Amino acid sequence: MHERPAPLTRVVERLRKNRLIPVIVIDDAGKAVALARALEEAGLPCAEITFRTPRALEAIEKISKECPNVLVGAGTVLTPRQAADAHSAGAKFVVAPGFGAAMVDYCVENGIPVFPGIATPTELEFALSRGLTVMKFFPAESLGGIAYLKSISAPYGKVEFLPSGGIGPSNMAAYLSNPRIVAVGGSWMAPADWISAGQFDRIRDEVRKSHDRFVEVYVKCSLEKLVERDVKGLYKKALKGEIASFTGVSDPYEEPLHAELTVESDRETAAESFNKLLARLEELSYVRNGAAR
Ligand code: 3PG
Repeated sequence: MHERPAPLTRVVERLRKNRLIPVIVIDDAGKAVALARALEEAGLPCAEITFRTPRALEAIEKISKECPNVLVGAGTVLTPRQAADAHSAGAKFVVAPGFGAAMVDYCVENGIPVFPGIATPTELEFALSRGLTVMKFFPAESLGGIAYLKSISAPYGKVEFLPSGGIGPSNMAAYLSNPRIVAVGGSWMAPADWISAGQFDRIRDEVRKSHDRFVEVYVKCSLEKLVERDVKGLYKKALKGEIASFTGVSDPYEEPLHAELTVESDRETAAESFNKLLARLEELSYVRNGAAR
């Protein structure tokens, strides 16, 4: 048996599996549980509740108590006090728009999973100096989107991002098909006015639409069972133009070993994607030279 991963690693892997993070601004904590249930029912059990309203903390507390399967985090966290409060209220992770050193150091020292915001190589290095390799990239679109992100991350080895700011259904594929992207965040799935108006069906539909569009195939099987048949199936999808990108996660922390493969769909970039799929499978040692092992 391998050692269980640190809380930060576990949160990152859950975010990677979900691929989307609904960024929430909520005025009425009484609506928090209905909101979390709508997200869960839509297949996206995750919410970043931002500290942009006085009710954020209460909302986190309610979701954490009543919806244990929802990965609830706190967003727009600026001070150590807010991070501590969010953590005690049950937030599993903390996100910030920028790099507030006091807040980030507090989280690192207290084992609270934290994703500080970065916008430049200098800020990226602040995060690395704290041992953090997954960071928020904000405001993604205004900074120059995925092209800028590729440029600033090129000099660094293992750095991954949670971009947000101006991302929505029309541009999320560009981010999600990049291997450095863990998940994208955004408010489009559950805008503040929909929450205030109690439009939870609308939120459920929007999340489903966004989520379904990209998560085409989800395979969970033991490594031994991941055979040529599975790779061929993925190959056929690639030929049909149904695969845009691929992310794979192996989970060596449980016995027997498990592999989780997520294939995302976007017809336009299918060919490029199949190569990515193979490269990733190779990286995970499932395939060598493009053939299943
Ligand atoms: C965030 O805090 O991540 C952003 O404000 C979300 O940006 P969006 O509203 O443009 O999606």
